[in-house]
Amino acid sequence: MLPRSDILQLPGYTPGRSIHTVQQETGRTDVVKLASNESLWGPSPKVLAALKTMGEKILYYPEVKSQPLLDRIGEAHHIDPSLLLVGNGADELLRLVAAAFVNPGDEVIYPRPSFAAYGHATRLSGGEGVTVPLTATGSVDLTAVLSAITTKTRLIYLCNPNNPTGGAFNQAEWDWFVGQIPHDIVVVVDEAYREYANMADYPDVESLIQSGRPFVMVRTFSKIYGLAALRIGWAMAPAAIIDWLYRVREPFSVNLAAETAALAALDDSAWIAEVQKATLKVRESAMDQIQRLGFEAWPSQANFITIKLPSDSAAWAKALENRGYIVRATDSFGLPRNIRVTMAPNSVMQAFLDTLKTLAHDGF
Ligand SMILES: Cc1ncc(COP(=O)(O)O)c(C=O)c1O
Repeated sequence: MLPRSDILQLPGYTPGRSIHTVQQETGRTDVVKLASNESLWGPSPKVLAALKTMGEKILYYPEVKSQPLLDRIGEAHHIDPSLLLVGNGADELLRLVAAAFVNPGDEVIYPRPSFAAYGHATRLSGGEGVTVPLTATGSVDLTAVLSAITTKTRLIYLCNPNNPTGGAFNQAEWDWFVGQIPHDIVVVVDEAYREYANMADYPDVESLIQSGRPFVMVRTFSKIYGLAALRIGWAMAPAAIIDWLYRVREPFSVNLAAETAALAALDDSAWIAEVQKATLKVRESAMDQIQRLGFEAWPSQANFITIKLPSDSAAWAKALENRGYIVRATDSFGLPRNIRVTMAPNSVMQAFLDTLKTLAHDGF
């Protein structure tokens, strides 16, 4: 029994290795996961308190649209809730756009190295993936994206800041791109790491959406909000696009725990501001130390740093795992000889950097 012929070509997702697996393999109990860009500062204590209040409400199906959450996101971000949709992680939302807009044979442009979900969503919808390289500093090369457009292009995925490099395009690059892009192409901007970008000229995607251009901004609660296990993200798009996305979304894709946690997380903006400040501080110091160790690294606007290595990344990742740190070898992203390291509270990060230093000086 074989699946659909295009599914035969579909590579499986390569996740970060789990703490449980590495504990079993190494016999260590003190394993730290720096491999999937979760927020190691964790969720707000208000989230944990709110989850305890769900009680017997779990016997009911959740609200189809999670309207209270749409209203709360709208309030927090000054967006009309009719332009919003929540989903089972940003992953689901990225996939919904391809499911709603891509016909078999349509071309979909996305960067490489970048997040695997774009290629996956494209193939699942029967589309043809067209990949474009990054700029030298690891942001999506918008000039290359424009050059790749043909009459068959239906959808474009952009990742800003880009995973796994951490580079971000700015407002001027964005304005130039938007001025040239044909109006019948849907553009998704995946901003999973937006809260970590500390550049003055971070591009404004929202006002274009408000003006009705077919753009979709995708955000997540998995990163700075610390809710990765609950699976919840949100998207902003013109109302007509939101309507199409609902038609292909599973009716109850956001569960009550996720909705409850997201509402509580939005009520603690002080927590998010603190985590943001702490992450940026650790990122700056880690970058400095990594460079002083003699490594090159991609300049990052995200909660990770991707380090360029002198040799095979799998061997470095294994050596780090044996010492209690799970990092991400980025080969599967199309970036060999690099490891991506998630930022963590200072004491954890410092211990990791000391281990990296030992490996760099003494070998594995
Ligand atoms: C660029 C990017 N987009 C989306 C996601 C997935 O987010 P979610 O956990 O909300 O599905 C990730 C997760 O690593 C990511 O790196």
